[in-house]
Amino acid sequence: MITQHTATQHTATGARAPLSFTHRYVPATNPATRPLLLLHGTGGDENDLLPLGRMMAPGAALLSPRGQVSEAGMPRFFRRLAEGVFDEADVARRAGELADFIAAARAAYGLAAPIAVGFSNGANIAAAVLMLRPEALAGAVLLRAMVPLSQPPHGALPATPVLMLSGRMDPIVPQDNAQRLAGLLAERGARVEHRHLSAGHGLTPTDMTAAQEWLAAQAVVPAA
Ligand code: MLT
Repeated sequence: MITQHTATQHTATGARAPLSFTHRYVPATNPATRPLLLLHGTGGDENDLLPLGRMMAPGAALLSPRGQVSEAGMPRFFRRLAEGVFDEADVARRAGELADFIAAARAAYGLAAPIAVGFSNGANIAAAVLMLRPEALAGAVLLRAMVPLSQPPHGALPATPVLMLSGRMDPIVPQDNAQRLAGLLAERGARVEHRHLSAGHGLTPTDMTAAQEWLAAQAVVPAA
């Protein structure tokens, strides 16, 4: 079963309010598997990464929001001033809104903390959530990510597992930028595995295999 747009949460007054992001939700068929939070790239939407999520973590619950920023009609998770130049105040605000959505969706659907799987702009907002609201995520697979905030706070990411997959020929993400992000996350305590693939900005079968294996090795949700 797939739910679209319809989930609600209870407010303090008992009224039911819709969740703040347009999203798709696919319930788990294997409840012992960590839920995935799927975060699309620029111009994608809440449908894009569902097949990838199904392949990467069979049986996991999938929560897939649509970015709330429109760049010439293309959904994104935060504003940018130019390619690779971010509106950092907007990054911080939107990361907070996404973390709030995750908390509300967890309550509405009865989910454990998810592992984010983000591609490009989706990977960048996931990195911002890790640094600004670390409690929101149980881990992250960052596909073609770059540094989202030049001066991130010194919050702790105690042993949060992070897989970063970067492309050696990526024309959008310079390798030293991806390296810097891996360092920023590791300095905050994340357990970062950073792999440099023979790839550009687009995803390859190696991304799929690496993410699948890494996700399979993560701790399953403890039985209630
Ligand atoms: C971004 O804007 O987040 C990155 O440049 C990746 C992209 O969306 O092209």
